[in-house]
Amino acid sequence: MALQIGARAGQSSARSLPRALATQLGPLVFKRHKSGPYGYTQAKALVYSKYGEPSEVLSLHTHSISPSLPSGSLLLRTLASPINPADINQIQGVYPVKPPFTSLLGTSAPSAVGGNEGCFEVVSVGSNIKSVTKGDWVIMKNTGFGTWRTHTLAEEKDILKIDSKEGLTAVQVGTVSVNPCTAYRMLKDFEEMREGDWFIQNGANSGVGRAAIQLGRQWGLKSINIIRDRPDAAATEAMKNELLELGATKVVTENELMDQGFKEQVKDWTIGGREQVKVGLNCVGGKPTSALMKCLSPSGHLITYGGMSKQPLSLPVSALIFKDIKFSGFWVSRWSDAHPDDKKTTVEEVLEMTRKGTFKDIPVQEVRWDWGTEESTLKEAVQGTLGGFRAGKGVFIYGDT
Ligand SMILES: NC(=O)c1ccc[n+]([C@@H]2O[C@H](COP(=O)([O-])OP(=O)(O)OC[C@H]3O[C@@H](n4cnc5c(N)ncnc54)[C@H](OP(=O)(O)O)[C@@H]3O)[C@@H](O)[C@H]2O)c1
Repeated sequence: MALQIGARAGQSSARSLPRALATQLGPLVFKRHKSGPYGYTQAKALVYSKYGEPSEVLSLHTHSISPSLPSGSLLLRTLASPINPADINQIQGVYPVKPPFTSLLGTSAPSAVGGNEGCFEVVSVGSNIKSVTKGDWVIMKNTGFGTWRTHTLAEEKDILKIDSKEGLTAVQVGTVSVNPCTAYRMLKDFEEMREGDWFIQNGANSGVGRAAIQLGRQWGLKSINIIRDRPDAAATEAMKNELLELGATKVVTENELMDQGFKEQVKDWTIGGREQVKVGLNCVGGKPTSALMKCLSPSGHLITYGGMSKQPLSLPVSALIFKDIKFSGFWVSRWSDAHPDDKKTTVEEVLEMTRKGTFKDIPVQEVRWDWGTEESTLKEAVQGTLGGFRAGKGVFIYGDT
């Protein structure tokens, strides 16, 4: 990271050429982006220099990376990087991980690059790098690296190598480390879940929710999945069926959850409560989460990992006193920083399920990022992320860069 050679904001690759050469090459120069004059890699990144709404603070910055790679560095080309809700919160300045604003990319004001997750291909390696070679796929070890960029320099400590890219797509690899890992650890690390146990979750159609459904099914767990009512009944039914096909045991809407009789319904599904609803996964908050909490079995555990409704949680004292419900939070960044080896194992396990076809892709809205893609197209894709009822997660797919 410390070794990027920057150009000024908005500077094109042609401007960094000697005048005589630029004149000689004429318009062709503008197409020479992958490898510029003297082997410089021409790169672009979505950067921000102050916190705010992505549409207001993001800008597309062009810079170049020197061909003389330091011995401990790798040059990476980005293949796919998703736009997750937390990425927006980070740009808004309300997320605990705040990458420092630096001048490394030569932006007019110190800046950070957006995005936290992605799949990268190794383009070249410094002479001291032994763990990866050209063509390998890697992901970032920690959040905060800045993944919305066409190329980057990294060091070995920054990356996790994917053992084999065979049978995988860049989107699958680029979206494995946040949502599937979150679902996996929440189901494994808080309660001893045995075959036949239940969990209940809201945001069930989210990336995390879909991962929990699929992992739960493979581990013999039953699940009650809550989605928001869609604008029309047919769309709600279609969403229910989609999640049932993924392996959900039951899918209900928020309105059905809030119905007085729902607790009895759960009792019925769990054979009078003999089967236990041990874990609740919450990424929504507000009143629907209080209703979800009531469905947990005595000594159940509510794990909160998101707050999409921006509504606070209210905990009935009876849940603590009489039902001994436990409340925890989970943050995948904290977990992966503390357990890098477990992150690698979890990622590889999910990718193996993906290869075998037992872990299906999330719905994706691809945003193609070519060299000529307009800044506005990229910014709009980011800004739209926190809107509800989306057809899929936005993922930058890097083409002609
Ligand atoms: N703590 C962690 O380590 C961690 C890790 C990963 C994710 N997360 C969090 O988990 C949540 C889901 O992330 P994701 O990437 O899986 O999401 P995603 O795939 O982008 O899906 C967004 C989900 O949020 C729901 N949603 C959107 N606006 C909502 C609102 N106003 N009220 C209730 N639900 C709303 C959507 O439901 P509709 O389709 O009905 O709009 C959808 O289920 C986010 O809050 C994210 O920050 C936390």
